[in-house]
Amino acid sequence: MRVLVIGAGAREHALLLALRNDPEVKELAIAPGNAGTAAIADQYDVDITSGDAVAALARKIEADLVVIGPEVPLVVGVADAVRAVGIACFGPTKEAARVEGSKSFAKDVMAAAGVRTATSEIIDNPGRLDAALDRFGPDAGNAAWVVKDDGLAAGKGVVVTADRDAARAHAASLLDAGHPVLLESFLDGPEVSLFCVVDGETVVPLLAAQDFKRVGDGDTGPNTGGMGAYAPLPWLPDDVVRQIVGEIVKPVAAELVKRGSPFSGLLYAGLAITSQGPAVVEFNCRFGDPETQSVLALLDSPLGQLLYAAATGHLAEHPPLRWRDGAAVTVVLAAENYPGRPRVGDVIAGADTEGVLHAGTARRDDGAVVSSGGRVLSVVGTGPDLAAAREDAYRRISAIKLPGSHFRSDIALAAAEGRISLPTG
Ligand code: GLY
Repeated sequence: MRVLVIGAGAREHALLLALRNDPEVKELAIAPGNAGTAAIADQYDVDITSGDAVAALARKIEADLVVIGPEVPLVVGVADAVRAVGIACFGPTKEAARVEGSKSFAKDVMAAAGVRTATSEIIDNPGRLDAALDRFGPDAGNAAWVVKDDGLAAGKGVVVTADRDAARAHAASLLDAGHPVLLESFLDGPEVSLFCVVDGETVVPLLAAQDFKRVGDGDTGPNTGGMGAYAPLPWLPDDVVRQIVGEIVKPVAAELVKRGSPFSGLLYAGLAITSQGPAVVEFNCRFGDPETQSVLALLDSPLGQLLYAAATGHLAEHPPLRWRDGAAVTVVLAAENYPGRPRVGDVIAGADTEGVLHAGTARRDDGAVVSSGGRVLSVVGTGPDLAAAREDAYRRISAIKLPGSHFRSDIALAAAEGRISLPTG
């Protein structure tokens, strides 16, 4: 099988490494890729938000399967364009990708499917903002205001704050930019990312993971695209995963089938485990980053065959997934000033080594690997348990040199120390 992966991050680097371990996968290509993925796949520079360009590339290289990593190509319909030229594609249609592309669409689907989620209100008129803020936030019994961009914002459109002025300022800036705003009630409880491979009404969950969205230790500072992740979650019982699949993911998949836009690809349920049970924070229409780097480090089943089965409507016939024992911890190395405008162009030493996945990297003409984005590398550690996997990840990251870079030192720490527990109802 010849597989073309679309994207340029550490998630796509992890996908390539897992695909390379599948004996059925004979050739790998990526567009556009980065300095790390160039070593393991043929690299093509095309506009990945153009369905025509991606479909033409897939035809040119005679791909058997296209795997789309990021949300933007999916939301603009690149998977539809690939399927239209007769090539199997792992990734939902433009219509089904609205579960991520439009938070109001996702809320509508969840309401119809009877799925527990935060109460919410869409504001598109600045004149209604203050009254709406009164209905959310601490005075309305919430720990904080949750203010979201209704559309895509690379993880940075969300502000969760107990400071009304900060909540108002974020909402006002989104409205000024012409973006509708979603105000939500605050969901308390530990967060879980559950990735499910979905093919119509067939749902196959992967290992549950947890990511770390804030830039600083102790969940401080602004939101980012993700600063680290770990899997599995020792504090999450298997019956809660079964409950999430049965009460949340399957009903949503069935509702999309009912609406005539079945989901095919990776449905990412972002959840809070509240005292009333699991509730949806968000759905994404693709593998999460950086959770994928941890989850795929533990996958023993051949990834290419799994994704091909989903892409061709045969997921129900796929054998149960096998997982390696132990744990995986991913720590993201970010460039100076990230999540603000990152400093780029610095030489990175020690990045071409096992367990180091590239994201914002490029190779200069002189051969040096330099930073080219905010999240530069994902460093993955593994071990028999979370403590050992953390040690491995932090040992690896300490060997990398990038001026001005930063990373969180507490990824998976609370879980490794047994400090996460489920709220009681
Ligand atoms: N880990 C968050 C995301 O992928 O959106």
